[in-house]
Amino acid sequence: MNPLAEELNRTIQASSPYLFEMLSAEGKRFYYPSKGILSQSAEAKQHAHAHNATIGVALRDGKAMYLPSVMDQLPGIDPDEALLYAPSYGDLELRKAWQTVTLHDNPDLAGKAVSLPVVTGGLSHGLSLIADLVVDEGDLLLYPDKNWGNYALNFVQRKGAQPKLFPFLDGDHFNTNAFRQALAEIVASGRKKFVTLLNFPNNPTGYSPTEQECQDIADALKEVADQGINVVVIVDDAYYGLFFDAAVARQSLFTKLAGLHPRILAFKADAATKEVYVWGLRVGFVAFSIGGVKPGDPVFQALTDKMGGLVRAVVSNCSQLSQHVVAKALENPAFYAERAANVELIGKRAAKVKEVLSNPKYAEAWEVYPFNSGYFMCLKIKKVSAFDLRVHLLQKYGTGTIAINDTDLRIAFSSVEIEQIPDLYELTFQAWKDLVS
Ligand SMILES: Cc1ncc(COP(=O)(O)O)c(C=O)c1O
Repeated sequence: MNPLAEELNRTIQASSPYLFEMLSAEGKRFYYPSKGILSQSAEAKQHAHAHNATIGVALRDGKAMYLPSVMDQLPGIDPDEALLYAPSYGDLELRKAWQTVTLHDNPDLAGKAVSLPVVTGGLSHGLSLIADLVVDEGDLLLYPDKNWGNYALNFVQRKGAQPKLFPFLDGDHFNTNAFRQALAEIVASGRKKFVTLLNFPNNPTGYSPTEQECQDIADALKEVADQGINVVVIVDDAYYGLFFDAAVARQSLFTKLAGLHPRILAFKADAATKEVYVWGLRVGFVAFSIGGVKPGDPVFQALTDKMGGLVRAVVSNCSQLSQHVVAKALENPAFYAERAANVELIGKRAAKVKEVLSNPKYAEAWEVYPFNSGYFMCLKIKKVSAFDLRVHLLQKYGTGTIAINDTDLRIAFSSVEIEQIPDLYELTFQAWKDLVS
């Protein structure tokens, strides 16, 4: 074990022995190389008055050297802000700006012991960091049967997690009973640790829970922790804020889990990707909370150092240009109003979808899973395979949708203009009729 890892582990064990138990072998091994190139160049930045020949970038007159063919495309951005390396933890200004937005949106987090987020290369990368930190081969991962397919690749294929799925929906609601039942089975199995991953607004159904459902989830997890089981909860907030129904909880489930129990390690994985409408810029975040410690406890820096080390090892650091652009957007006083305008637009599309689908003729072709948020809605196709329907709809009617499995067809209303929505469903219906006839 590297002495730097040992030091971090001692810090973590002193503050939160349960958190230490929840780390994977890799998580225990990891550390930020604070005595290497990065710290030596940081030191040189402060003290090298004569010459600074530390870091592997090219400088001219003390600024980033650049090609005009690059910088001409970025008017108004300083070459240093666009081109130099960002810290492995992410740009501090951006990390603080994201924390400010998170607190604005989730006022219940105020005063709770939550880490400053680490910047990742999009949410997928954030999930992979968490997986590296807490998942050993064979660890159980509990997540809903309606889920984003990449979880299987990230957690199951890459890390060897053992998946356990629970039925996500019960009629028009989150299936609290099924979730509780799955937790009871885990307790009965004698496992001392497991990981659960919940994503709201849900991909693919577009369902988000009510305040009461969030409370029920948190209560159920706390009961398990009370029985001496270590619980890692990953809250995937990819589509956070795209809420279209008054009944939907406005704050992230993470707010109810933060600080809840010394045996509950909760991660908030989110991203500028959808929340700031910058899919390809690849800016995501991971923050975490553990119960039983105070804000500012050294355990926060220690686990953050392990995350910084994981970023350093794999991508070294995330795009400086992307981080700069997102930080400036978050700090712009127009940010909240601009974001609200987009949410309103996508919400109008969701309302249009509901209106179109209220036509009783569609009942013979599909059921509609409940949706109240996010980018997607999902049809449960009757009588024909959703895979076949997708292909036919595409080939005959030039309309692209996603078949999630044999019954479920996912439609991203987020990317369809409102006036095209009636036609989209009409063509889907036509295609279905072709196949049943
Ligand atoms: C539920 C969910 N989580 C995470 C992601 C990944 O987001 P990113 O593009 O930031 O990696 C997506 C993207 O489709 C998603 O649907």
